[in-house]
Amino acid sequence: MSEIVNPTHAPQRVNSVNTLEWHPNNQGSGELLLIDQILLPHHFEMVRCRNYQEVGEAIRTMKVRGAPAIGVTAAYGMALAALESVSSEVVQLLAELREAGSFLNATRPTAVNLAWAVSRSLEAAQEWAKEGHSVPGISGKLLELAKKIHEDDVAANRAMGAFGAALINDGDNILTHCNAGALATAGYGTAVGVIRAAHEAGKRIHVWVDETRPYLQGARLTAWELQQQGIPLTLITDNMAGHLMYRGKVQFIVTGADRIASNGDTANKIGTYSLSVLAKENNIPFYIAAPLSTIDLNIPDGEAIPIEERSTDEVTIIAGKRIAPEGVKAAHPAFDVTPARYIHGIITERGIARPPYQESIRALFSINSKED
Ligand code: MRU
Repeated sequence: MSEIVNPTHAPQRVNSVNTLEWHPNNQGSGELLLIDQILLPHHFEMVRCRNYQEVGEAIRTMKVRGAPAIGVTAAYGMALAALESVSSEVVQLLAELREAGSFLNATRPTAVNLAWAVSRSLEAAQEWAKEGHSVPGISGKLLELAKKIHEDDVAANRAMGAFGAALINDGDNILTHCNAGALATAGYGTAVGVIRAAHEAGKRIHVWVDETRPYLQGARLTAWELQQQGIPLTLITDNMAGHLMYRGKVQFIVTGADRIASNGDTANKIGTYSLSVLAKENNIPFYIAAPLSTIDLNIPDGEAIPIEERSTDEVTIIAGKRIAPEGVKAAHPAFDVTPARYIHGIITERGIARPPYQESIRALFSINSKED
């Protein structure tokens, strides 16, 4: 079980805390500290993960959530699997890493950043093994890789913020869904990062925050983050969005993503698809903000994206209180797929991909590989 550290009932400013932090110890290993997002906004506590099993448990139970955040967390999980290994043989270490990777991958299926970080770590470890590195050498390098994935995510979010802020006009009312802020990433946020960057550029904006039933990431996390950052917001229930769009009270919509197929179809929190259709009906620009690590070039379209089914207790029970009759049947697909035709653009750290996405997405990746 992950251990709770630094409990406080006074939520701190999100600008001054990190979603995840690596704390080294004297034995050459360390521990990963994560903000326990289940407890926000009422309690601010951090959980301590000392091995990959605790990391996987924190992801599975959504103490840490949001596609980029779980990707970075998984990278530290892989590093911990190596650092905590007692094997002296590289072949055995690689087998243990494959097992840790399968364990972590099984925690949440939709956000591809998790599998991306796991396979990046595994491939790198195999390469270092071929080059003749020892078990401690590979372990240390996996930790460095996790730190790099961590830093790169924050830098990607800031770059997305700069690209996306240019799309927002002074006076815009922006609608967002779920939480794609600092808490969902290693810092700054994707969709919320775009909103923050517009605010930091001095644009007078206001944000409609969808509460995001059933898990309430909007009400609990996005509302908290925006409030911490001094960005004007109004919390709405998800079914109010269409009314506000129809009445001309929404000028721009931006959400994050959990997996983007190579044709631009985008999986994000359940309810995103409905927003995109309403946006089209009401001529409102609908954008996705996500790093390249969220794009899955291995799948042709959204049909191939696995949709996580979560416990129906999350639908029938709110904050410990049952709201539906005992024994009633409920459903809980946690994500949906927005077809590419409803998306005006995908804001990435390399620029904004526009339809047709097959070409524009590939072009962004080729900029990437040229620079690498
Ligand atoms: O179930 P969650 O809270 O992990 O879902 C999160 C989302 O759907 C976010 O919008 C997405 O991961 C993008 S986060 C930058």
